[in-house]
Amino acid sequence: MLVLWLVIAVSALVHWLYRLNKDYYVMSFFAKRVRTKDGQPLSSLVALPKGVTIFGNSFDLYGKDHAGVFNMSRQRSKLGQSYVEYGMGTPIYNLIDADSADIVLNNQNLITKGLVYNFLHPFLRTGLLTSTGKKWHARRKMLTPTFHFNILGQFQEIFKTESQKFLQQFKGQDETIISLNDVIPRFTLNSICETAMGVKLDEMAEKGDRYRENFASIEECFIRRLSNPLYWGDTLFNLFAAKDYASALDVVHGFSSEIIAKRRVLLEDELESRKETQTADEDLYAGKKKRFAMLDTLICAEKDGLIDHTGICEEVDTLMFEGYDTTSIGLIFGLMNMGLYADKQELCFQEIQEHIEDDLSNLDISQLNKLKYLDYFVKETMRLYPSVPIMGRATVQETELSNGLILPKATQITIHVFDIHRNPKFWDSPEEFKPERFSPENSQNRHTYAYIPFSAGQRNCIGQKYAMQEMKTLLVAVLKQFKILPVTDPESIVFTTGITLRTKNKIQVKLQRRK
Ligand code: HEM
Repeated sequence: MLVLWLVIAVSALVHWLYRLNKDYYVMSFFAKRVRTKDGQPLSSLVALPKGVTIFGNSFDLYGKDHAGVFNMSRQRSKLGQSYVEYGMGTPIYNLIDADSADIVLNNQNLITKGLVYNFLHPFLRTGLLTSTGKKWHARRKMLTPTFHFNILGQFQEIFKTESQKFLQQFKGQDETIISLNDVIPRFTLNSICETAMGVKLDEMAEKGDRYRENFASIEECFIRRLSNPLYWGDTLFNLFAAKDYASALDVVHGFSSEIIAKRRVLLEDELESRKETQTADEDLYAGKKKRFAMLDTLICAEKDGLIDHTGICEEVDTLMFEGYDTTSIGLIFGLMNMGLYADKQELCFQEIQEHIEDDLSNLDISQLNKLKYLDYFVKETMRLYPSVPIMGRATVQETELSNGLILPKATQITIHVFDIHRNPKFWDSPEEFKPERFSPENSQNRHTYAYIPFSAGQRNCIGQKYAMQEMKTLLVAVLKQFKILPVTDPESIVFTTGITLRTKNKIQVKLQRRK
């Protein structure tokens, strides 16, 4: 009798699970399924890659090394269309085409970042990059004026000075091989600290080096969580893994706190001296005579009760990380490409010779804007090597997209910038380096969202103009003095996953002084 009841109970359970499986992917820990508006099978709109275990795609990344995690997405992109996966109770909508990117990035309801951004919370807490809703709106409004054209114009002197300082290290050398991963990040960290934070790193150089080293441990932690679904939530992670990274977090937070403390003192002095010399119609924030660092805006907003000290720390950590790491990657690959494509380097150089004085004295934004080919060159570099290869969003409610998909609440949306930028549907010979693609005539028929290195829509990169200006300034300064020759074979580059684009090997070039 008992056996009969047991059989009935099991059959009922199986039947119930079978019916439930229509709406939920039962084996993938009850992930709610993505539906289509017209009831067509989901496979008519997206690809549905099979998982490696019976648990949907939950454990597809488990046990993979950093290169394996990166390559997994590249393999998936060969499906030729955007795809849906189901992992650990969550639907994941992966975009590899410009049309879907357009739909998602322009959806006003899709401004909340995805689950993986939670892995950055111990480091950045909820600053501009990771926050959402009212908090994000308020911070974006507060920081937008600090990237105003006038302010960027005033940063140009710093970029120039830092570029010249960068070149000083090769003084007296006619030829030298450099590891770009070792020398570039110091330049970009110095630049962001002096522009955005208003603090020179000269006497803090060692602390800057420690910041960068410890940043690498934080990234390690990020990847550990990404590739192990057991650590996706905070509870198990905090219990078993968080302590391994506590000291690295102390170092990076200590560094940013020291910068804030230094700037508070400098700002008080500066405001005092400005009060004495200011004329009635001078704007204290955009005064022509002296720069106003971005951090100053935050400190002044604190005085008005619009942000507190923790908020300032969040934004300083965010700006410092975003501002130094992303531009480093752009410059590393930009210089590598200069070496690899001598003819294109020459076109950049000739243009620089035409517009820029040898001592860089006229190198301001208007001159930089005349360097059209350099602009195409940097853009093409960021197409093939986008510093942010992946972006993520999450739905906060069931969301219907104009392409006919209905995404359940808490769906993760992954925008594979790396794959969109190499999608043959939008790019001819996508693997080839061809800066000319970005000339106005060659760009006019291209889908706007086929190229999104700085994202697009409401949550686009606030620092994109700053980044282009900084990267171009260093490239001009280097090309003025040196010819760049290739060292690293691009075929040998192994990409690995990270918070931003990473390679297993360091990238080297040879600098040869121009006669
Ligand atoms: C080559 C350089 C850069 C690239 C490729 C880049 C790319 C991006 C991308 C793709 C996003 C969107 C991220 C997402 O949705 O998850 C973003 C956001 C952001 N970027 Fe950049 N970035 C660069 C440089 C900078 C610089 C120099 C700064 C600051 C000085 C900066 C500050 C930010 C901030 C604060 C956000 C968050 C904006 C928001 O959500 O409102 N970025 N960046």
